[in-house]
Amino acid sequence: MFLTNNYNVTKCKEKQATPKAAFVFLHLVNEKTFYVVERRVAKLRVFEFIGGTILEAKEISQAVISRLPRYFRYLGELKDDGVERISSQELSTLMKVTASQIRQDFNNFGGFGQQGYGYNVEYLYSEISKILGLDKTHHLIIIGAGNLGQALANYMNFERRGFLFEGIFDQNPALYGKKIRDIEVQPMENLECFVKENSIDIAVLTIPKTGAVNVAEKLVHYGIKAIWNFAHVDLNVPDDIQVENVHLSDSLMKLSYNLNSNLK
Ligand code: NAI
Repeated sequence: MFLTNNYNVTKCKEKQATPKAAFVFLHLVNEKTFYVVERRVAKLRVFEFIGGTILEAKEISQAVISRLPRYFRYLGELKDDGVERISSQELSTLMKVTASQIRQDFNNFGGFGQQGYGYNVEYLYSEISKILGLDKTHHLIIIGAGNLGQALANYMNFERRGFLFEGIFDQNPALYGKKIRDIEVQPMENLECFVKENSIDIAVLTIPKTGAVNVAEKLVHYGIKAIWNFAHVDLNVPDDIQVENVHLSDSLMKLSYNLNSNLK
């Protein structure tokens, strides 16, 4: 153990292995046919089994994957409102997407509805949650304990979705030991051990772009598998590392565009 401006820096214990792929049993279409989803880093593949043999294996497009969180969000709200079932037409009106788009998206996974009944909200919600990997917990750290990092750390709702906030790091000694939701800001020197010892899989980057590329490379080296990147810079990481870039200003510009189009 050594000290960084009076804050303890610990030595690492051994590294933990992280699985490369996860298989999720989805649902039985009938007594012989069932679906299995394979999640491998960014990719989703669905296997259709009939009578014990694989009938079809297909990769799910990124467009479909990117629509799943929205379905999940709406279904969660319906569930909270006590809605038990919904037709694709009703879901279509609610979400402002066509009913055929909804059916096509769900058909990738064998379809979740029944003719004349529609979708069971609770069931569909739980199936999509499995596909998205939200039935599992993820361990998340934040790099950069400034305004944005602290705001995200204080947002409890991520935990409801299985994203556990485990640690927060910064290079500014003035912040070491500051508690955010009972978790102390730690020096960057502790990062490697912390990631390895706590099976951290996701890092949130809320630092300026100058240091972000370098920090991201270190994170990957320590074993991080996914980065939620708020720094305004493209990261240089291997293909098997998931990066989701967030630019809040893109959304604001879209709002501005729509506002101005409406004024014309
Ligand atoms: P801030 O200045 O309050 O916090 C940045 C923190 O990062 C500071 O505590 C600083 O000590 C720390 N830091 C800087 N370099 C570091 C490094 N190499 N390693 C570890 N810690 C380091 O800034 P704020 O407002 O929290 O914003 C953070 C970053 O996020 C900014 O670069 C900003 O441009 C970006 N941002 C991005 C948004 C988006 O939508 N993508 C929205 C808002 C901010």
